[in-house]
Amino acid sequence: MESTFDPVIVCFCCQWCSYAAADLAGSMRLQYPANVKIIKVPCTGRVDVISLLRAIEEGADGVFVSGCLLGDCHYISGNQRATKRVAYAKKLVETFGMNPQRVEMYYNSSAMGPQFAQCCKEFTDRIRELGPGLRKNELETGYTPESK
Ligand code: FES
Repeated sequence: MESTFDPVIVCFCCQWCSYAAADLAGSMRLQYPANVKIIKVPCTGRVDVISLLRAIEEGADGVFVSGCLLGDCHYISGNQRATKRVAYAKKLVETFGMNPQRVEMYYNSSAMGPQFAQCCKEFTDRIRELGPGLRKNELETGYTPESK
C-alpha cells in the first residue's frame, strides 16, 4: 500500500545562489514537491543550530539548508559554518532519538535550478520513507521522540 504521508519540509535557502536556483527551477517550470517551504536567509552562515531544531520541534518532518557552492559563499565562509552546524544538529537530533537523516546540507549555485529541484525531490522521498517526525508522537502520546 502506498504511503499517504505528506511530509512538511523546511529549507533554509541563502538569497544569493540557492534561492536563485529555486527561482530558476520555477522559471524552467521544473516540478519539485510543494511540501518544501523555503525560508530565504541572507547567507546559510546565518542559520544556527537552534533554528534547525526549532523547525523540527514546531512540526517539520525534515529540514535542510541549501547554500552556495563551497568556496563561493558571498560572505566567504558562511556555508562552511552552516556545514558544521548541520553536522552538529544531526548529532543532536540523533541524541534525541530521531534519525539524523532528517537534517541535511546541500550546495547549489544560481545556475543549478535542476539540481535544486532534485535536492527537494530526493529529500522529500527520504523523509517520506522515514515517516512523520515529532508530529506522529504528538498525536499518539504527547511529546516523545521517535524510536530509531
Ligand atoms: Fe550563499 Fe553564504 S551567501 S551560503
